[in-house]
Amino acid sequence: MNSLESMNITALLEEAKKYTNKGKVASYIPELKKANSTDLGIAVITPDNKMMSAGQADVKFTLQSISKVISLALAIMDKGTEFVFSRVGMEPTGDPFNSIIKLETSDSSKPLNPMINAGALAVTNMIEGECNIERMERLLHFVRELTNNPAITYSNEVAKSELETAFLNRSLCYHMKQNHIIDGDVEELMDLYTMQCSIEVNCHELARIGLIFAMDGYDPLRKKQLIPRHIAKICKTFMVTCGMYNASGEFAIRVGIPAKSGVSGGIVGCIKGEMGIGIYSPALDEKGNSIAGMKLLELLSAQEGFNMF
Ligand code: DON
Repeated sequence: MNSLESMNITALLEEAKKYTNKGKVASYIPELKKANSTDLGIAVITPDNKMMSAGQADVKFTLQSISKVISLALAIMDKGTEFVFSRVGMEPTGDPFNSIIKLETSDSSKPLNPMINAGALAVTNMIEGECNIERMERLLHFVRELTNNPAITYSNEVAKSELETAFLNRSLCYHMKQNHIIDGDVEELMDLYTMQCSIEVNCHELARIGLIFAMDGYDPLRKKQLIPRHIAKICKTFMVTCGMYNASGEFAIRVGIPAKSGVSGGIVGCIKGEMGIGIYSPALDEKGNSIAGMKLLELLSAQEGFNMF
């Protein structure tokens, strides 16, 4: 067990901060351009509820693709593994997160995994509810449980900004609708997906989400199983194999921590039974991962011996 007191995250953060100027803030969702490219924050939390943070750990940012592990957990809780994986695969792609190519070249048109956009859209399509208001309320309730914060909400500005510009995601949806991977109205699904991606957290809240996964779905604070153990394990496995998209292999070698990134610059990480990690730094590399965020996780992993391999 690593003790928080001996972890000098401020020194690691200062080292990683040098990398913020090597990346670019996402601009394809116009609202995300407003982020401050030099921000870097980290929070870590242990099962005994000790928390430590450094840098811009209180800045709110949207989950973006980090929401994909959360919607996956909820969809499996709703529909069961058999149904979910009849429509979405379990294999890494090696392609960018928004690529359409594998949908066209695979026989069944089934998206290869739930972490790429096509797979995540298919998963969001499985969340139960009579209407989007109810589905979004269920998603928000779940994130509020995971973060232990009833005030969690989403940014309407970011959701609308994505909805107005998400032409590629729409084409993924229409392709999947044609091939019976998704049901219902594409615009309604896009509306729910963009709201899901726009759920706002800070590093502390993200670290708490990481801790729940690190504890295989169990919340040690409220002594409550929030996600069935086998589902939390599936989500964590996807973090290892697909969490950083087509950088997942290199990330596994350099860092070796189950993690999931988002284009807002967030990264959630989990150390089995020990720690949840929330990182924010909006300057991204060309694959859409936070450049200083990944560096910070690499430094932390090396210092604390967190590499799971
Ligand atoms: O679907 C999109 O393009 C975004 N809402 C989420 C993409 C994302 O976060 C990719 N991550 N690095």
